[in-house]
Amino acid sequence: MASENRDPAVRVDRTFWLVTALLAVLSIIAIVATILWRVQDTPNLPEAAVPADQIDALFKFLTASAATIFIVVIGYLLYFSFAFRRRATDAPDAIGVQIHDSRPLEFWWTAIPTIFVIVLGIFSIKIWYGIQVQPNSGLVVESIGHQWYYDFRYPGVHGVVTDEMHLPIGVPVTLHTTAQDVIHSFWVPAMRLKADMVPGLINTLRFTPTRAGRYKIICTEFCGTQHGAMQKQVVVIEPQPRFNAWLAGWKKKNAHASDAVATTSTATVNLASGDGAAGQTLFSQKCSACHALGPFSQRIVGPGLKGVLHDPAHPKLVNGDAATPENLAKIIQKGYTGDMGHMPSEAENAIADKDIANLVAYLSKLK
Ligand code: CUA
Repeated sequence: MASENRDPAVRVDRTFWLVTALLAVLSIIAIVATILWRVQDTPNLPEAAVPADQIDALFKFLTASAATIFIVVIGYLLYFSFAFRRRATDAPDAIGVQIHDSRPLEFWWTAIPTIFVIVLGIFSIKIWYGIQVQPNSGLVVESIGHQWYYDFRYPGVHGVVTDEMHLPIGVPVTLHTTAQDVIHSFWVPAMRLKADMVPGLINTLRFTPTRAGRYKIICTEFCGTQHGAMQKQVVVIEPQPRFNAWLAGWKKKNAHASDAVATTSTATVNLASGDGAAGQTLFSQKCSACHALGPFSQRIVGPGLKGVLHDPAHPKLVNGDAATPENLAKIIQKGYTGDMGHMPSEAENAIADKDIANLVAYLSKLK
C-alpha cells in the first residue's frame, strides 16, 4: 500500500526521548570535562598575563558549546536517518514526512542560537574592550617587526632595545606594534595575545603580566625565508627592581643613540677589523647562492665576484660606484636593485656590520 504524504502527523515515540536523554548526558559529560580541563597546565601554555585567563574561559565556553552542538546535531542526524529510513513497504515514489508551520519548533530554533550568539558577543566584547579600548596606563612599550627579528622601544630609552623584551610583573602594559619592511606578527602564546605587525599601521595590545618567566614571541605571518626563525626572542617577566635595573642599563647604553627608526643601517662600517677567513665562511653561507667566485661574466643571479676590486674591465661596481672596499661595503649594507636584479640589504640578509667587514676583507683579496 502506498503511504500518503500527510502534514504533519509525526509522533515522537519512547525511543526519541531515550535518544534525547542519552544526548543530554553526553553533552553534560563534554561540558564538565571542558570545565575541568586546565588549559594552563598544557606545556608552553601557562597563563602569564591578564587577560589570558579570560581568553581561556572564552575558549572553554566555545569548546563546550561546539561539543554540545556537535553531539546533539550528529546524534539526532544518526537517529532520524535510522528512524525515518525508507521501509521495504514504501512505494518507490514515497517522500519523507514534511513538517512546516510548527510554531514551537520555529520559536526554539530561532531563540536558542540568538541567545547563544548574544552571550558569546558579550563575553568576547568584554575581553576585546580590555585589550583594545581601555586608556593607556602603566608602561607603554613599542615593538617593531623586521626581517627577521623584533626591536623594542621603551620610555626614556633612546633608539631601540635589541635585547629580549623585558616587562615587570603586575604593571599594566600598553604595547604598540608595527613593522618596518613586510607584515609580521607578534604572538605570545603564554599571554594568548597576538597582533599583526603591519608597516604604516599601529596595532595595540593591553595586558598585565602576572607570572614571572620567559615566554616565546613567535611571528605567525609568513615574512620571508627566515620567518620560521623569527621566534627566538622572548618576553622576560620579572620583579619590578630587576626590570628597573635592566631598563637603567639600556638608558645608559643607548644614551647617545638616535631616535629615528633606522630603515637600514647607515653607520659607516669599520673595515679595518675585517677577518678574511670569517668572511669566506660567511660568503659560503649567505652569498654563494647568487654569486660565483669566477669572473664577472659568470653570473648566477648576481655577477661573479673574482677580482671584484681588481678587474680592469669593470672598474665600477654594478651600482656605478668606483670599486673600492668602502663602496663594496655600502652595497652589502644597503643592498642593490637595478639591471642585475635585486640584492638584499644587510638587514634583509640578517648580517651585522662586523660581517660586512669580514666579507669585504675576503672579497678584496680575490684576484
Ligand atoms: Cu616575521 Cu614571519
